[in-house]
Amino acid sequence: MKHKVIIEPFKIKMVEPISMSSEKERIKYLKQANYNTFLLKSDEVIIDFLTDSGTSAMSAEQWGGVMIGDESYAGSRSWLKMEAAVKNLTGHKYILPTHQGRAAERIIYGYLGGNGKTFISNTHFDTTRANIEFSGAEALDIAIPESNDPALIHPFKGNIDVERLDKLIKEKGAENIGAVILTVTNNSGGGQPVSMKNTRDVSAICKKHNVLFLLDCCRVAENAYFIKDREEGFENKTYEEIAQEMFSYTDGSAMSAKKDALVNMGGFLSLRDKKIADACTNLLIITEGFATYGGLSGRDMEALAIGLKEVFDPSYLEYRIKSTAYLGNKLHEMGVPVMMPIGGHAVYIDAKKLYSHIPVNQYPGQALVCELYLKAGIRTVEIGSVMFGKYDKNGELIPAPMELVRLAIPRRVYTQSHIEYVIETFEEILKTKDQTVGIKIVEEPEFLRHFTAKFDKVQSESVIA
Ligand code: F0G
Repeated sequence: MKHKVIIEPFKIKMVEPISMSSEKERIKYLKQANYNTFLLKSDEVIIDFLTDSGTSAMSAEQWGGVMIGDESYAGSRSWLKMEAAVKNLTGHKYILPTHQGRAAERIIYGYLGGNGKTFISNTHFDTTRANIEFSGAEALDIAIPESNDPALIHPFKGNIDVERLDKLIKEKGAENIGAVILTVTNNSGGGQPVSMKNTRDVSAICKKHNVLFLLDCCRVAENAYFIKDREEGFENKTYEEIAQEMFSYTDGSAMSAKKDALVNMGGFLSLRDKKIADACTNLLIITEGFATYGGLSGRDMEALAIGLKEVFDPSYLEYRIKSTAYLGNKLHEMGVPVMMPIGGHAVYIDAKKLYSHIPVNQYPGQALVCELYLKAGIRTVEIGSVMFGKYDKNGELIPAPMELVRLAIPRRVYTQSHIEYVIETFEEILKTKDQTVGIKIVEEPEFLRHFTAKFDKVQSESVIA
């Protein structure tokens, strides 16, 4: 029999209580947090969809690994296991442990970057861009044009525009290109996958121009699922083989292990070139730690080595991608405008379309974030004009291209009934959407304002009257 229901391919051995709250309590909590869900206490949240990063539930085997972690300063057994697991995946010769993704980014982009350098990606994740720009270099995003249309169906909406890539390298001069970076899956572009063909094409262009090609690989297992499912010629390959092939075309990678290595903290840098690896190892030792632990404990490295294998288990990956799609497709069928097709780690809601009556300078995405919290204690994040908006000379908002809300799903944490609860909440969101009012910014810092800005609700016209 072929079942329609996707069951979690695990049993629960240890539980973490959720602290439940009433709508009345949440009104108070949200007011105290100035309508910014980053400022809520986690105990005030029922379902936490803020991020899929560092929020995975570890397996019994990983917890077992934690107990045998070797905390030696140098040459730790746990490091040797982590190094072997990363080498097996990437095929790269030099592996540098770091405490998380952005530490790997700071090291490699600090080394490759600097004034006059250009980095080109499908989409640089915020911290990647920040590390590149901090070095004085520029970061250009050139995903395929289809990636900007939330409703458009395309199997590999995370692909980079290869023609533009070739042109851009010629225009800028190959010697000025710091690196080409493929982000898999493309987080900022909706968690959309990149095809193997696109990876091969990028590799060929980089080889032709003698430019370094790196993978931002924090969701590479999820990306491998989409390749096996959607790209011809991969039906009989394992997910791990697909990921290994992807790495085979690259010169190096940076990984935030907080995603597809199923750990709460960790990361690495992998490289083929000795000269670059030596320079990066120096920087690693100055800022992260000795070369056999980076910023990690032995127990972290032990869990990471196990997680990197577990993530390629077909029952896990199938459950992971299908359960994200289950939520996204249900919302789509109900008439909630979602970014299509559904990506690997998150569902993205098009708040501009949902709340077409709220102007962009009243932040429809933040309005939805607040509604989801008030109605059900669901914590999400706005990826729109609160996060990326800028002001012109007259102080008018220059809005972001899209007003999205991300429901990022932690790995192995929530069950089907949690997801049904979220779906039920959206029924109410749709029913009450015309009464939902916009949001204004009351106070904001100069940089990365979404983390700490203070908001308030704009009074509805009926209230003013
Ligand atoms: N690259 C990508 C594609 C990411 O999504 C992230 C983190 C990083 C790099 C940085 O890794 O957090 O370990 O330093 N993304 C998280 C998110 C924060 O919520 O999407 P880090």
